[in-house]
Amino acid sequence: MASASIARSPWLKTLALLAAVATFAGCKKEPAAPTAGGNTPAAATAGEIVIGHYGSLTGGQATFGRSTDEGILLAVNEVNAAGGLEVAGVKRKVKLVSEDTESKAEKAGDVVRKLISKDNVVAVLGEVASSITLEGAPVAQRAKIPTITPSSTNTTVTEVGDYVFRVCFIDPFQGYAGAKFVREQLKLTKAALLVDKSSAYSDQLSKEFAQAFQSMGGTIVATADYTQGEKDFNTRLTSLREKGPELIYIPGYYTEVANIAIQARALGMNIPLMGGDGWDSEDLAKNGGAAIEGTFYTNHYAPDNPTPAITAFVTKYGAAYNGKVPDGLAALGYDAANVLFASIKTAGTTEGPKLRDAIAQTKGFVGVTGTITIDANRNAVKPIVVLERKNNAWVYRATIEPK
Ligand code: PHE
Repeated sequence: MASASIARSPWLKTLALLAAVATFAGCKKEPAAPTAGGNTPAAATAGEIVIGHYGSLTGGQATFGRSTDEGILLAVNEVNAAGGLEVAGVKRKVKLVSEDTESKAEKAGDVVRKLISKDNVVAVLGEVASSITLEGAPVAQRAKIPTITPSSTNTTVTEVGDYVFRVCFIDPFQGYAGAKFVREQLKLTKAALLVDKSSAYSDQLSKEFAQAFQSMGGTIVATADYTQGEKDFNTRLTSLREKGPELIYIPGYYTEVANIAIQARALGMNIPLMGGDGWDSEDLAKNGGAAIEGTFYTNHYAPDNPTPAITAFVTKYGAAYNGKVPDGLAALGYDAANVLFASIKTAGTTEGPKLRDAIAQTKGFVGVTGTITIDANRNAVKPIVVLERKNNAWVYRATIEPK
């Protein structure tokens, strides 16, 4: 297995520093062009700061990993275009190495080990899905390499240890926000739950939603479970329908949600459907089509809710990626990378323990997805937005502030 701690001799550091100065003085390389789902093209040279990303670049959650990778790469290219990241007075280029988890939790440990022991990354960004991060983060923790998940919202993720951070909100708040929206804005009282039992995220979010919804006077009239990869939801939807819900809460990922929506509509269930951030994929509308009209989900950001940070990001991202509109994952990947870069600057070193301390001190960082302050539990406390599918488009519907 990979070594738990990577030796970094003072000698190597001196060499790296000299090389960095030489690289910076000697050659003006053009910033690498964005390569979606890929790595910074240039090979690592001494003096470069190597960071890792592990994400679902293929499989049932492929848009999660690809969008995140694009957001991170945009941040990396911006830093490199400015000459690099200034660390203790020396500008150093940043190199991104990305690894594919194939949307499988069992891949995460190996790819994080590879990033740390083979690529010598100074920090690891990822994963998106909480169940996958829960397998990758312990490897980084044991190696004392800081890791920031842009988007895993399950509470237990940052409980893995003191090297594990996130720049997003957590699911007790997401469940509460969903319930509050259903009760106060949609004014509905009877909800059914359809839960992905193979996902730590879905499991916790369904419980948090149910608890909050009941405390606000709502009733959960029925519950059914499924497992990722399933395609036929007819029996479960029929059993939910018998209990007369006014809304179905489906805290799953977009691949299954598209099929659920199509089958629910085919069964004549034209009630609102609602989910969480796991719905955030262009493939939901692509695959779900008209069936997702009249649905809602809670998310980290809405591209059409123009704050200066969002507008600037949407423009830059579109220019880099063929006019594509960035989803929440792209925005969170970009924010996570920039929080890491700011922390490397503050620390004045890429050494794990000092970099860890600098990330922990993050306060009032103005990101695309809101202002990021890392709390004592290494989580970010941020508002949530609710999006609605209306006339074939996702539109910003509400903001819910932290409790
Ligand atoms: N919050 C989800 C999880 O923890 C992942 C996710 C975040 C998916 C943002 C889409 C958008 O599993």
